[in-house]
Amino acid sequence: MIENFEKDYEVCNCHKVKLNEIIDAISIKKIETLRELQEVTGAGTHCRHCVFEEADLGKVKKKIYCKDIFNEVKYG
Ligand code: FES
Repeated sequence: MIENFEKDYEVCNCHKVKLNEIIDAISIKKIETLRELQEVTGAGTHCRHCVFEEADLGKVKKKIYCKDIFNEVKYG
């Protein structure tokens, strides 16, 4: 899924966190949990709509979520 997005795609609009920042945090900083990913990058720590689909209460739904990126980078 993540290969369908540009590396500078903004996953978290509140904190302007881009896809490549999230991927780097998971792979380089060895993030082990979704919560840790949020703490390190700031993604998903405001409105939380970008964390996972069920938490997306926005009018315009996100195209990709932190949880999906985490699972894909971590577990393939
Ligand atoms: S879009 Fe990520 S916390 Fe609001």
